[in-house]
Amino acid sequence: MTSPPEAAVRTIGLKKTYPASGPRPAVPAVQGIDLDVPRGEFFGLLGPNGAGKSTTIGMLTTLVVPTGGSAQVSGLDVVRDAVEIKRRIGVVSQNNTLDNELTVAENLEFRGRYFGLGARDARKRAGELLELFGLTEQRGGNPFEISGGQAKRVMICRALVHGPEVLFLDEPTAGLDPQTRTNLWEVLRGLQAAGQTIVLTTHYMEEAEALCDRVAVVDHGKVLASGTVDQLKSSAGADTVITVAYDAPAPDGIKALGDREGISKVEVNGGQVRVFAAEPDGILGELVTIGSAAGVGVTDATQLRPSLETVFLTLTGRDYRE
Ligand SMILES: Nc1ncnc2c1ncn2[C@@H]1O[C@H](COP(=O)(O)OP(=O)(O)OP(=O)(O)O)[C@@H](O)[C@H]1O
Ligand SMILES: [Mg+2]
Repeated sequence: MTSPPEAAVRTIGLKKTYPASGPRPAVPAVQGIDLDVPRGEFFGLLGPNGAGKSTTIGMLTTLVVPTGGSAQVSGLDVVRDAVEIKRRIGVVSQNNTLDNELTVAENLEFRGRYFGLGARDARKRAGELLELFGLTEQRGGNPFEISGGQAKRVMICRALVHGPEVLFLDEPTAGLDPQTRTNLWEVLRGLQAAGQTIVLTTHYMEEAEALCDRVAVVDHGKVLASGTVDQLKSSAGADTVITVAYDAPAPDGIKALGDREGISKVEVNGGQVRVFAAEPDGILGELVTIGSAAGVGVTDATQLRPSLETVFLTLTGRDYRE
């Protein structure tokens, strides 16, 4: 089979406003998003709670109807060609949606039958996937009596039963412990290495850094920046960010630091001071010294090396709310 030349995912000005309902006003959850994901890529939508990630995934997977713009998956339109798109994608949602009336293996077999496999092929495919994902022992178990990490792996298997062109994962590691999370990262890397196009959402910066070829940083329904993690760091947040909380309004001398070479910006907000610096050495100590000279103590201090977190800070002026 030759691969279609289309991008795996392309959106132009994609929008979703949830309508007002009773006293609740309309919610402009996604406000014109442009995305372009080539086949084979591992793409991440990164953003804090309420950014519009699930709504975007919902539109790409045809579960949420857009209110503006357009979106294509494998060259097909999410509204016009919804039925065909469903055949070509795999979706792993945020919650456990396995059927607890079926065993783990039956969940996969059932899905295989749904997609047109015969009983024997469905059973064979389920067995292969469960083995590949280290779940052979769980095959006869109830999907709600296995661990959260195992359930997530079963959901990924189920999404792969029919060999989808694009695999969508909404917050695949939310709520999992760190060890389970890194295990799942290995699983996902393996899938990509085997050629799978993957689009995931996450609110974990380190997850986006660890997995994604390219990332779109979203907030309040808009893409703030997109590119490789390295591109994002060098375009928006190449600085180290030093934040200090004083136990009184920040001393006057602090602002003058902004004129120094190697410091791009100083923000003072009451007792909180934030210094964006390309050359961060010694600045933290200096902030303490300036404070104590003015009789003001430091109650909290953090230093963030350039990362997606500092990119977010630089783009929004806000802390990343995890
Ligand atoms: N069915 C709905 N009806 C009305 N508003 C909704 C609906 N679903 C989501 N929203 C609102 O749309 C906005 C975006 O929500 P969405 O779930 O897409 O964000 P998210 O980035 O996935 O957040 P999280 O990290 O919490 O999963 C939020 O303000 C949310 O309250
Ligand atoms: Mg969500």
